[in-house]
Order: sequence, then C-alpha cells, then structure tokens
Amino acid sequence: MNSLEIAALIVLNSVKSSKLSKKAQNLFLPLAKHLHTTQGSFQYQWNDKSVSVCEMSNNISGMRKPYRGKQDKFDLDHLVSKEPFGQFEAWFNEAKNTDGILEANAMSLATATKNGKPSVRMVLMKGIDQNGIVFYTNFLSQKAKELTENPYCSLLFYWEPIKRQIRVEGHVEKVSEEESNNYFHSRPRDSQIGACVSQQSQVVASRKTIDDRNVELQEKYSDPNVLVPKPDYWGGYRVVPNRFEFWQGQTNRLHDRIVFRRLKNGESLDPSVTHEGTNGWVYERLMP
Ligand SMILES: Cc1cc2nc3c(=O)[nH]c(=O)nc-3n(C[C@H](O)[C@H](O)[C@H](O)COP(=O)(O)O)c2cc1C
Repeated sequence: MNSLEIAALIVLNSVKSSKLSKKAQNLFLPLAKHLHTTQGSFQYQWNDKSVSVCEMSNNISGMRKPYRGKQDKFDLDHLVSKEPFGQFEAWFNEAKNTDGILEANAMSLATATKNGKPSVRMVLMKGIDQNGIVFYTNFLSQKAKELTENPYCSLLFYWEPIKRQIRVEGHVEKVSEEESNNYFHSRPRDSQIGACVSQQSQVVASRKTIDDRNVELQEKYSDPNVLVPKPDYWGGYRVVPNRFEFWQGQTNRLHDRIVFRRLKNGESLDPSVTHEGTNGWVYERLMP
C-alpha cells in the first residue's frame, strides 16, 4: 500500500466516523468503490483489491469475521484418518496449498520452567512422522533450558485463512546428532554461519557485535568447499505427542473440536463419547 492509499485510508476512516467535511468527503469518497460497513469494520475496493479496515483503537471487541458456512461442519465421519498424524497431514497439505498462508509450518511452542512458569515463541516444523514433530534450535536458548528441566511442551498451528487450529501436547526428545547434522548442512550456507554466530537468547552489547562476528565467520568459511561445522549447541528436538486437537472455526462460534489422545492407565472407554482409533489412539468431540 503506498502513502496515497494510506492517506486515503485515514480519510475513509473519518468518512465512516462522519468527522470529515462535506467538501473532503466529495473529494475522497469516489476514490473508494464499494465502501460498505460491517460491525466494527468497513470494507472497500481499492485497485481491485478488497481492503478491510477496522475502526481504530477502542473497537477491537467488535471485530468479527464470518468463518465457515453451515455446510462446512467438521464431523467425526470427515476424519481422513483414525490416528492424528494422518489427519494432521491432510490439514497441513491443505494449509500449504492455501493462498495467503506463507509458512504453514510455523507453529508456536510453549514451554515451562520446572516451577511451571510458561513462555511461548514461534518455531518452524522441519519434519513430521509417526514418531513426532521436529524443530531445530539453539540449546543455549531459553526454550532449550526450559525443555531440559521440564520436557513437557505444547505446539500450536493456526491457519487463519482456513480458520483451523491444531494443538499438540507432548514431551520432547533430542533428535540424533546425525539427523541434526544432516539438516544443518541442508540449510543455506548463510544460515549455517548464522547459527555459529548466534548464542541464542544470550544478552549482547549491540547489533554491531553480532554483525562483526558474522563478517569474521563469513571470511573464515569463504571457501565454499570448506564445511561449516555444526556447533555442539545447535540441533533438533522431536515433540512426541500424546494429544492432538483439531479445531475448525464456525461462524456461529459453535466450533468443531476433535481430540485424539492416549487412554489413561486403567481408564475404560465409554463408547458413547470416546471412539477407538488406530495405533493406540482414541478420539472424541469437545464442546466448543
Ligand atoms: C515465524 C518464525 C519462525 C521461527 N523459527 C524458529 C526456529 O525454527 N527455531 C528457533 O530457534 N527460533 C525460531 N524463531 C525465533 C523464535 O521465535 C525465538 O525468538 C528464538 O528461538 C528465541 O526463543 P527463546 O529465547 O524463547 O528460546 C522463529 C520466529 C518466527 C517469528
């Protein structure tokens, strides 16, 4: 969006709030085609793009978007798999192929200290199979410290354009040194060097300190035939899930939630709500 468009947006906001003089309204209103308002936001067509603008500041509570039509319910008989990894794969492939989802593999990772103090950040899923979901990071980081003292964690994928969320809970195991090495050397060379530069999550005096170290290592590894060694403090974690929740948003807020979980020790299955899946999983629906 260029500066004229931004200026027009501000003006259009004023038009909506009737704060603008008649003269200015006559000047700017024809610029925007199909201006129409919905509760808490208004939409207009600009250069063939549909732009949605929500009223500034205090109207966040009024932001409300239609999700799915009534016909798009996610029911038990829509599951493509009776175990969560197959279901995950189907939804992930759909997300990957959806316009507007640039990093379908971006997920938030929640960890906690041994005393239960939580923290959360984004990471990228770099592998998934029946053993779990893999991401790579720096073992000096806050997340790694927390995972060392408390291996339980949670992942969250949210794909806004298709109104789907997947929650995963489980514990981590480090991936093998060989697997980390293979992935490390598959990354672009600059990223490999970047991993050597960064002692992730440590306090540093300035950006310059980081840039200087980068220049130093870029020079050291300027010969592309020289392998950049993976630092010992860098590698992968595999999240081994014991619970997946598939959430499909619905316009009337009666969202669909289907959970796959392992049966607890000694728990007997109530077939009126809990269904036997495959590979030792059971699944059930939750209230929205
Ligand atoms: C979209 C996105 C993807 C990211 N992917 C990773 C990743 O795969 N690994 C990683 O260590 N940090 C990744 N980060 C940076 C982390 O969010 C975080 O800043 C960093 O890992 C330090 O977190 P910590 O201090 O809690 O350990 C990513 C950030 C974003 C916004």
